[in-house]
Amino acid sequence: MIDILASPDLVALRAADVITEGLVSLCGGTLGLATGATMLQIYARLVDRFRSGTISFCEVTFFNLDEYIGIPRTATGSFRTFMHRCFFDLVDVDPARAHLPDGMSSDVSSEALRYEALIRASGGIDLQLLGIGSNGHIGFNEPGSDFGSRTREVLLTEATRVANAPYFAKGAEVPHRAVTMGIGTILESRKILLIATGKHKAEAISAALSGPLSTACPASALRRHPNVHIICDAAAASHIVGCVAVQTQ
Ligand code: GLP
Repeated sequence: MIDILASPDLVALRAADVITEGLVSLCGGTLGLATGATMLQIYARLVDRFRSGTISFCEVTFFNLDEYIGIPRTATGSFRTFMHRCFFDLVDVDPARAHLPDGMSSDVSSEALRYEALIRASGGIDLQLLGIGSNGHIGFNEPGSDFGSRTREVLLTEATRVANAPYFAKGAEVPHRAVTMGIGTILESRKILLIATGKHKAEAISAALSGPLSTACPASALRRHPNVHIICDAAAASHIVGCVAVQTQ
């Protein structure tokens, strides 16, 4: 299912609706979280709903997709810092249920296995929120990632490091390595919500939907999942073959 909306604001509202409906119907449940600029407005809308009493997050278990390796969890650019600043500290999240991979672990392979086991022990992910990189990456699964890959250490491409540089004082501080849920891990989520806004995502969205099913575009693996809901703005949808209709609300 694809919703194409006129603006990033409408995308964020629709995404917040889907997340809220999903969590309310589950009376909690397990939500997979993503980072990145695309997510900021979505978290802001979820915070609005918490403040208006529409939703509580205290019974929800959270698993973030990824974290950098080698920077402290309190570092400005860490994904844990991002999540606390934009969401966790602004709602009633139970800190014991807010999980990210530990990028400071001295044994990343064991940490990856621990993270996978924790997801399984929580009953799996009900709804996984996903952004997309301009090169088609999901989580930090860069082009070339196997569709069956599990949580593991990965090397980031220069393009991805440059895209994430605004979260660091200097571009050179962006770590080269990260630990990410694998594509296989992501595909085990019961439902996936993929969000894309902006012209710079148009090629990746088009490749994901109608390009070859190939590790060259990690997001193309989502076509193997039976329950993916894509919400894009008109700019991100502009290269989709056959896309003529734009919903405006
Ligand atoms: C990072 C994250 C991805 C996210 C991507 C897009 O690389 N690891 O999960 O989808 O950024 O971010 P943005 O929304 O800033 O374009």
